[in-house]
Amino acid sequence: MGKHSLTRRQFMHIGSGALAVGAAAKVTLLQPHLLSAAARPVAPSDTVRFASIGTGIRGCELLQATLRVPGIECVAVCDLYDARHQAAREAVKNSSVPTTRDYREILDRKDVDAVIVAVTDHQHRKVFVDACAAGKDVYCEKPMSHTVEDGFVMIDAAHKAGRMVQIGSQRVSSILYLKAKEIYDSGKLGEVFAIDAYWDRNSPSGAWVYPIPPDASEQTIDWNTFLDGAPKRPFDPVRFFRWRCFTDYGEGLAGDLFVHLISGIHFITGTTTVAQRAQSSGGLFHFKDGREFPDLIETFYDYPNFRVSLRCNLNNDGGEFIGFYGTKGTLIIKDSTLTYQPQDTRPKPEGYSTFGWPENLREQYLKQWHAENPLPAPLDSKVDAEAETFALPAGYSDIPDHQANFFNAVRTRKPTVENEMFGNNAALGCHLANFAYFNKSAAVWDAGAKKIVKG
Ligand SMILES: NC(=O)c1ccc[n+]([C@@H]2O[C@H](COP(=O)([O-])OP(=O)(O)OC[C@H]3O[C@@H](n4cnc5c(N)ncnc54)[C@H](O)[C@@H]3O)[C@@H](O)[C@H]2O)c1
Repeated sequence: MGKHSLTRRQFMHIGSGALAVGAAAKVTLLQPHLLSAAARPVAPSDTVRFASIGTGIRGCELLQATLRVPGIECVAVCDLYDARHQAAREAVKNSSVPTTRDYREILDRKDVDAVIVAVTDHQHRKVFVDACAAGKDVYCEKPMSHTVEDGFVMIDAAHKAGRMVQIGSQRVSSILYLKAKEIYDSGKLGEVFAIDAYWDRNSPSGAWVYPIPPDASEQTIDWNTFLDGAPKRPFDPVRFFRWRCFTDYGEGLAGDLFVHLISGIHFITGTTTVAQRAQSSGGLFHFKDGREFPDLIETFYDYPNFRVSLRCNLNNDGGEFIGFYGTKGTLIIKDSTLTYQPQDTRPKPEGYSTFGWPENLREQYLKQWHAENPLPAPLDSKVDAEAETFALPAGYSDIPDHQANFFNAVRTRKPTVENEMFGNNAALGCHLANFAYFNKSAAVWDAGAKKIVKG
């Protein structure tokens, strides 16, 4: 055999295109860089005084997380439901923090630098715009907007008032996503044309079938203010507590979960545009409880340089996943781990079609191929050795990191990681998905008109 000839075993191995992927990838535990923990002690004069508007499930979760962010102080909380005043005081461990049903009282206070807006989606625009006009910096929960128009009005409000804005898809501050971005930016994946992602859950809680608290009534809840921006209707605690199920207040799975996946994909790929086109399918299969959104939705997006496929399914406990499929490797984020798997892209003789050749022609082809190509390194464990898995340390949360990024920006006036433009692009992805689903037609983003139209 000549210098460049392969053994039969090597040939079979290469020819079949097989990669020996059996060996376990190296696992590296990521170190929490914790923007929050890493922050230097803050002088009392630099303390950011903030208030929380909306102290429901997320509002309380955010308040608890703020306890881990140095240099900030919660000076007021606001909610339309009285029991949530007490819940907020418990979350922030301050039994005397002032509470109100009327957020304008908070915006009138000169000693409030910033507000967290964790109200229902259909109220984001109103509170956000008023907060900007009152000179407050704003951390606003995802999805930024309830409608396409909302997002652009919010951008104008923030720009006009020169406010710092962070939208609340906290994954973009996760150390796992930072590692994914580092790998993506390194070029190790080659060119990435295909991305898919899902977020599946399988429980009534995951499907927003939240219990109604026993004291819920028109006396304890400001129902009329809740309805602001939505059609008037008699008091309905199901709508108040399970608002995500109804088009007047939420955007279903797209607004709840797609937005996290889209934000993650935009962050890792450095995308600063809206998807150009979307097509959706899905249906309401299990949770037929009067909700107006599907419990399964799948959407396919066209971006200029790649295609994205997303799914949310409330009938299987699949967890959270994003896959980036490149010409040189694959990057998978699954819940709290990230795996990079390179591909064997070394040149190799074509080994499939030539099985349909007689031996003499195959030998001739191989001889010529090896004369024209240097011998590939023997298929040792090189490729396997390069596969790597990164894992989040136990107890890690990306929420304080995301908040710390915002509060540092309030202090320094340096850009946040997820500003109003970023947040709007991600929210528009949700609106495209729902438009396509409900209209049973492709949804096209008309950037000039700032509108979604049928495609
Ligand atoms: N980033 C995340 O992972 C994440 C997770 C959960 C929720 N969220 C977002 O947080 C927001 C709140 O969701 P939630 O689960 O806490 O809902 P929730 O129903 O538990 O709480 C929303 C609260 O907003 C209050 N509210 C509405 N309008 C108000 C107004 N004008 N003034 C004062 N309070 C008002 C309501 O009284 C209610 O208590 C939503 O935008 C949601 O999408 C984000």
